[in-house]
Amino acid sequence: MESKLVFATTLVLIFCAKSSLAGPHGDHPWCYNTPACDSKTWSGMCHTGKVQSPVDFNTENISENRTQVRLRFNQAYFDVQNRFYAKNNGHTLQVQLEQDLSSKLVMDGDGLKGNYVFSQFHFHWGSTDDKGSEHTVGGKSYPLELHLVHYNDMFKGLGDAVGSKNHRALAVFGIFFKISPNDNWALKPIIEAIAGSQNVQEEASLIHRPLNISSFFPDELDLFRYYGSLTTPSCFEIVHWNVFKKPVPISKAQLQAFRSIKDSHGDNLVDNFRPTLPLAGRRVTEYEVVELDLKPSKTAEDARKPMPDADYEEVMNVLDPKTTSSHGKKSSAAAPRTNFLLLGLLSGVVLFFPKLK
Ligand SMILES: *[C@@H]1O[C@H](CO)[C@@H](O)[C@H](O)[C@H]1NC(C)=O
Ligand SMILES: *[C@@H]1O[C@H](CO)[C@@H](O)[C@H](O)[C@H]1NC(C)=O
Ligand SMILES: *[C@@H]1O[C@H](CO)[C@@H](O)[C@H](O)[C@H]1NC(C)=O
Ligand SMILES: [Zn+2]
Repeated sequence: MESKLVFATTLVLIFCAKSSLAGPHGDHPWCYNTPACDSKTWSGMCHTGKVQSPVDFNTENISENRTQVRLRFNQAYFDVQNRFYAKNNGHTLQVQLEQDLSSKLVMDGDGLKGNYVFSQFHFHWGSTDDKGSEHTVGGKSYPLELHLVHYNDMFKGLGDAVGSKNHRALAVFGIFFKISPNDNWALKPIIEAIAGSQNVQEEASLIHRPLNISSFFPDELDLFRYYGSLTTPSCFEIVHWNVFKKPVPISKAQLQAFRSIKDSHGDNLVDNFRPTLPLAGRRVTEYEVVELDLKPSKTAEDARKPMPDADYEEVMNVLDPKTTSSHGKKSSAAAPRTNFLLLGLLSGVVLFFPKLK
């Protein structure tokens, strides 16, 4: 009896470890480069979705809007953070400021509906310099793309936002990187963190290094905007994408540091990008952003703005909204780990209850 219990507990633990690698589905581990689990096999919304990401930004399909838009970031965005969490989750290197995926960094901007809270950033990169970014421009890839993930403050946190099916639940800012002879000093704390995150981690490492998130932004702020999805399973269609047109620099040595990160098999974690998907009638708008403004602290009036949908309907004109909101399970890539633990424990109980009798 005792040994059976130990056996059951061990299996539950294995299940937990596996499910946290497998992501929201728990049942089917996903990956980028093995035919058995690559993006062609991703299920659910990844398979059935109609407004998926990433996409190619092709001049043919971009309407320019020369109205100058402003993005506003609160003071915390421009401050130096003295510590951060970094984690190799087997699919990417992810950085958070707080353990609970919510932070004091808040932004909004013309064309964004509501306030968005910074949650985490992570990277996608290639094995060679000619690929790596998720979005492409006229079919051309960049060697690395950074995603700054924010959730709308109408939700309690990232997990809540991801589960919402709201097409503006998240605002993700994409930044392309281009090879340069010099290091990008803004990446320095991240490159230092990589040393401690070489192998897949169950827990994030706490890194005591100064990090200035606003220093990642390019000096020219023109951006491509469109509505799309998460680029990893569950692929929920909840992202208002904002991708800066102008790449920022990265040195070969810094890129090499990303390529040295290992996946769960101990192989180099590279080419962790999803190939582009059809725009399928969606409109991409290129905006001229004048500057990053300082966002004044939140007023009561700001707190719960209604979210008019006119411009969404307009850019998504070919789609029946019913088909874009009825899919998917209520689970999330970012759901707290405790969900996976509970799932693991429950499955363990269900699987092993008969044996324990
Ligand atoms: C350009 O963007 C602004 C701000 O989002 C919007 O008010 C305006 O209608 C847009 N113009 C066109 C031509 O789409
Ligand atoms: C952080 O970086 C931004 C952009 O480079 C800069 O304007 C700001 O002064 C930096 N903050 C600090 C505290 O150095
Ligand atoms: C881009 O626009 C053209 C012309 O409107 C259209 O034929 C083509 O299918 C669009 N491409 C994508 C990727 O949506
Ligand atoms: Zn991403």
